Amino acid sequence: MKVFIVYCHPSKNSFTNRVKEEFIRGLQDAGHEYLVSDLYDMEFQCELSEEEYLRESYYKSAQPVASDVQLEQSKIEQSDAIVFIYPVFWTEAPAKLVGWFDRVWTSGFAYAPEPSMKLLDKALCIAIAGKSIQSLDETGEREAMRTVMLGDRIRNRAKEKELVILDSTTHWNEKLREEKIKVHLKTVYRLGINF
Ligand SMILES: Cc1cc2nc3c(=O)[nH]c(=O)nc-3n(C[C@H](O)[C@H](O)[C@H](O)COP(=O)(O)O)c2cc1C
Repeated sequence: MKVFIVYCHPSKNSFTNRVKEEFIRGLQDAGHEYLVSDLYDMEFQCELSEEEYLRESYYKSAQPVASDVQLEQSKIEQSDAIVFIYPVFWTEAPAKLVGWFDRVWTSGFAYAPEPSMKLLDKALCIAIAGKSIQSLDETGEREAMRTVMLGDRIRNRAKEKELVILDSTTHWNEKLREEKIKVHLKTVYRLGINF
């Protein structure tokens, strides 16, 4: 399978970066092909310009899109599956990844009129959270993340979709973080090799 990874974290010195590396190791061991958009490395422009806003909100799909957006869309068209790897920032993806959706999920590509985007076999979102799953469930934050990422952004654009949250990675409790990291890295390798 050809897998397009959209990776978004501001620091190479993060657990999220290790998650990306370990997931790729699993994919490689299973013989999958992959390509990565590292949004910070690419300095991906995440803010919608006024021109883009007008194109999107008035469904002007005949108007061309920016070349960096075209490039991201072509990576999707070349792939069978998409994987998002990112930390949770205020119950959301980082602003750069949110902006990637604002700009890349364009009218005529990802939505009306007549979206041309291919139906992907799989969409997997791997979100790294500081909080525990229990805490995210108590407040409804996990459900909110599912609704936004899988319900709205992926919606019916992939045959299979999944949100995996790797929890309790806050630096507030370094001992727990280290324990959880060991378990999470095994989970992520398995996700890659069984993709
Ligand atoms: C600005 C900011 C906001 C954050 N918001 C949340 C949040 O809403 N929920 C959560 O579980 N963790 C939150 N965190 C923790 C991050 O998800 C944290 O980056 C995570 O523990 C992953 O570790 P890493 O940065 O080493 O990859 C936040 C961190 C930052 C810097």
